[in-house]
Amino acid sequence: MQPVKSPNEAPAKTFYIETFGCQMNAHDSEKVIGTLQHQGYTRVESEEAADLILYNTCSIRDKAEQKVFHRLNDYKKLYSQGKRFGVLGCVAQQEGEKIFERAPFVSLVSGSASYRKLPEMLVQLEQGKQHITGLDDRQTEETFETEFTARSNSHRGYITIIEGCDKFCAYCVVPYTRGKERSRTSTSVLNEARRMADAGYTEIQLLGQNVNSYRDPEGKRTFAELLAAVGEIPGIRRVRFTTSHPRDFTHDIVDAIDAVPTLCDHVHLPVQSGSSRVLHLMQREYTRDWYLDRISWVKSAKRPISMTTDIIVGFPGETDADFEETVSLLGEVQYDGVFAFKYSPRPNTPAISMADSIADEDKSKRLQALLDCQREIQRHNYAKHIGQEIEVMVEEYNAARGQVIGRTSQNKTLNFTTKQPILPAKGNYVKVRVTSSFPNSLVGEAV
Ligand code: SAH
Ligand code: SF4
Ligand code: F3S
Repeated sequence: MQPVKSPNEAPAKTFYIETFGCQMNAHDSEKVIGTLQHQGYTRVESEEAADLILYNTCSIRDKAEQKVFHRLNDYKKLYSQGKRFGVLGCVAQQEGEKIFERAPFVSLVSGSASYRKLPEMLVQLEQGKQHITGLDDRQTEETFETEFTARSNSHRGYITIIEGCDKFCAYCVVPYTRGKERSRTSTSVLNEARRMADAGYTEIQLLGQNVNSYRDPEGKRTFAELLAAVGEIPGIRRVRFTTSHPRDFTHDIVDAIDAVPTLCDHVHLPVQSGSSRVLHLMQREYTRDWYLDRISWVKSAKRPISMTTDIIVGFPGETDADFEETVSLLGEVQYDGVFAFKYSPRPNTPAISMADSIADEDKSKRLQALLDCQREIQRHNYAKHIGQEIEVMVEEYNAARGQVIGRTSQNKTLNFTTKQPILPAKGNYVKVRVTSSFPNSLVGEAV
């Protein structure tokens, strides 16, 4: 039911938010929610119940972008009921005021580099202003820091340490949608991490489009030193970081993982292609061998570190031989997980002027072949855990199977049963003996 508004009363302000895209977007939404709540808004779970509807959007691939416009189309009829709409995130920054042309009922368009101005933009919205924009482009040096973050999990939480990207890979929208690379001070990051530890968080995930390109504006700590410092905060049991860029992946990161047991034994290091020729066309600024050197550092760490990656198949000009090099790289590295995508031409990017030369059908075939090969690698890798005792953090329950869903330090899912009459609570740490495995998960019993 709609809240009844009398003219003398301040209107009840409710909002609905839906988030698309990466972890940075998920965490931005937590900060946007906190900001709105601080401004007197109440979050509701459906568009129907909301006065303000927000979509925090992603434009990394065309499909992601289209989802947003479909959603806006679906809900355009709600506008007549007096609702306001806002488009946030990467599609907002990319399309800017063009969104008002395509969807005139939208009142607010803001990219992530302008969220610090959200309180002012909300006031304008409440005053009835029609078309409000926050489109800072690549000028801003500022990061979005707020004490009002509404984290969705009370045990593990994100901290963004660096925003934006200055790498300009040929295929990628991020440098245009997220602005220039800018880091928070390590003092501010550590203060936030300590506040989280005091509030009972035991796992912290440091975020950045290229998290390891971090440069402390105060010059106090390198990325590896910041990792170690977060890992040494009393109460913190796990620290993760994502996404690392091979160009900025230095040996001291592996040394820090070796030295500080709370740093999780997992590195996500996107390679994109196994062919140096394609890497050059992609403007990744490294070769296959250069990448494999970084992998050899990770493999020679004192404890086994799990590795995962991102791959793009069907980049303009990718030949069968190039693709085979990517498949052979998977075999060489033996990743525990691969996120693979078909190349999608994106506006503003240098690659948009290259012919999208690989037919969609061929991209699909390459993608499938790659995933088939990777499934066998994972089947083998996951089976190596059988018989081991591994500590997991409890995340969820699968009532149908009577299983508890846990996550290992290596970021693997371990579903387990327990003989105890009372199930361990979410956020607890439990030792589990692995009894069997699948290509994407482990199965075990609590010890
Ligand atoms: N900064 C990270 C990646 C962030 S984007 C890095 O450089 O590794 C996340 C992933 O989306 C990328 O790793 C890439 O695999 C994929 N991606 C980005 N642009 C794409 C495009 N135009 N088409 C298909 N996949 C893309
Ligand atoms: Fe995109 Fe490249 Fe920047 Fe990663 S490093 S966000 S792929 S431009
Ligand atoms: Fe998508 Fe923007 Fe993240 S394009 S992947 S939401 S940085």
